[in-house]
Amino acid sequence: MAEVTSRCVGPIILMGPPGAGKGTQAKLIAERYGIPQISTGDLLREHVCKGTSLGLQAKEIMARGQLVPDELLYGMVAERLREADCDPGFILDGFPRTPGQAGWLDEFLKHELFDKSNPGKCLPIVVQIDVDYNDLLSRLTGRRSCPACGTIYNVHLQPPRVDELCDLDGSKLVTRNDDREEVIRERLQTYEKLTRPVIDYYGRQGRVALVNGALPVDQVSEQIFHEIERHGC
Ligand code: AP5
Repeated sequence: MAEVTSRCVGPIILMGPPGAGKGTQAKLIAERYGIPQISTGDLLREHVCKGTSLGLQAKEIMARGQLVPDELLYGMVAERLREADCDPGFILDGFPRTPGQAGWLDEFLKHELFDKSNPGKCLPIVVQIDVDYNDLLSRLTGRRSCPACGTIYNVHLQPPRVDELCDLDGSKLVTRNDDREEVIRERLQTYEKLTRPVIDYYGRQGRVALVNGALPVDQVSEQIFHEIERHGC
């Protein structure tokens, strides 16, 4: 069982292209600091599975590898961030992804989450996970995940002990609908066009910590933990 560090760490925003390891690292940060991972991709996939109105609107857009319009996300994200488990901090995995979303998040945090007498106290730390384009392709085409517990594997790089079965609960692993080569290319282009400016936005505020995501998972985590500890709250 991994060590849990129990203290307020504030919001952590994980940025990086599709396949950079945001989901993998978010789970490890969540385990270490006892704070929730909030993945807008996972939340949207849940809506798609349940066939909600949001899910119906998002389904085709996600299958094409494009971004769901900003206004469709705000209610979903706000509702999740207002849950009590987010009070000591949370990890945003896949949000914000456009300058509009980043501006919305700043306003949300200012008005709803920060201690109003000291609004700078818990500014988010933005961790940018950097990985080469070719590595991203092999990570995404090889990704499998457990539909029951969410554990992420990779058939080339981090295979399960038994082919196609989750190490933790034995469920049959699944491939994401958008991990097809033509869709992956679209997702990577969308990232460069719409999400890269968000990193620039945070960069101008001096908030971005760059980590080398090409290293093994545990070494990437070490860099992230170091940045979180350095940032404090
Ligand atoms: P989302 O689910 O957020 O997908 P993504 O950003 O494309 O990122 P991924 O989940 O593909 O990659 P990851 O960085 O989490 O990598 P992972 O840890 O899995 O979004 C999906 C869609 O939802 C979007 O396209 C959009 O349509 C919609 N959406 C979501 N949020 C939105 C928003 N805010 N606005 C609008 N639309 C939104 O790792 C990948 C693989 O690499 C795995 O196999 C893993 O085992 C392996 N791996 C990880 N780390 C390492 C390592 N260090 N070494 C070797 N292998 C590694």
